This record gives sequence, C-alpha cells and structure tokens, in this order.
Amino acid sequence: MILHVAVLGHPVLRARAEPVPKKQIARAEFQRFLDDLVESMLFHDGVGLAAPQVFVPQRVVAVWIPADMDEGGGLEPSVFVNPVLEPLGEELHESWEGCLSLPDLRGLVPRHTRLRLRALDRQGQPIDRELTGFPARVLQHEVDHLDGVVFPDRMTDLHSLAFGSAMEKAAAQATPPEDVQDDPDGEDADGGPGQAG
Ligand code: NI
Repeated sequence: MILHVAVLGHPVLRARAEPVPKKQIARAEFQRFLDDLVESMLFHDGVGLAAPQVFVPQRVVAVWIPADMDEGGGLEPSVFVNPVLEPLGEELHESWEGCLSLPDLRGLVPRHTRLRLRALDRQGQPIDRELTGFPARVLQHEVDHLDGVVFPDRMTDLHSLAFGSAMEKAAAQATPPEDVQDDPDGEDADGGPGQAG
C-alpha cells in the first residue's frame, strides 16, 4: 500500500519517535507496515523514508541506495528498526540533500563521512555495520527524522537552500546545449541535488 507523506508543518515530523518493542517486529501488521514503507519510498522516488514521514511515530527507516550512487555497490531496499548511529572520526562532508517532506527544497548539508550503524532487521536480528559516503549520509538524514530533525536544521549556511526546479531551470539557461547533452541529469556521483529522503 502506498502511504501518504507528511510535509513540514505536521507535528509528527517534529516529534521524537518511540522505539519499536522487539516483540512487535514479528507481528503480521508490523511486517505489512515495513513492506508499505519500502513500497512507498520507491513509489515516491526517495532513497530513504522514515516512519514519522508516513505518520507512524516509531523508530523505523527504509533506505535504498542505487548501485550507481555508491562506490560500495549500493544497498538494496532495506528497513532498519531502532537504528542507532555512532560517528567514526571527525570528518564531515557537505553535499546536496532533499526530503520528501520538504517537496522540491534542496540544500547543502554537512554529514559525517563514516559511521557505525546498529539496528534490528525485519526479522529482529541485530545489524552492526560500518557505512561510509552516500549510504552514511542517507542514514543520518533518515535517523534525524526519528528525532524530529529535518535537513535544514543541519545546514551551517542557509544560502544554498533552494528549490530544485528553479535550480534546474537556471542551470539549463546558463549551460550551452552541447554540455546539457553530455550530462543530461546534471547530477554528480554523490547523488546530486535530485535525491530526496
Ligand atoms: Ni527526509
């Protein structure tokens, strides 16, 4: 089932989500919700979707990293229950983000480049893995949603905040036609301004 996405202004996006009790994970109703969360993420063309974004105030995120956007080979559509992130090292990297709950907005957001992810999978089994680069960025964006945080809160300079449609229009007007053909998407390998979670 495709779920509606809350947009900024709904209080569910600013609330702290509740942990999922372990005994809830195996229940048919919760498993159906996990399927719906993944299906909705893919339908809405996001690389991530957090449960509060579909009006469910629980600590669950869905993530999908296309192989061509990740040097590590991508990540098939996955869910993480009660995810906890621990930054590894101090290094930050700034790149473009968007969000299905802030339609069309884009901004440059600094994120940790390396982190440790601990969570439960959809069978309730523990996950403990290291993430770098774009997958690490997406997880930070999604786990922020569980704490009522949206990406502009993480921006250190709001000057890059912009509407994606306007950026693309301006870029098309400024770019000679032959360059447009070289790079029809106008997106970089790090995800580009088009990706939303
Ligand atoms: Ni988002």
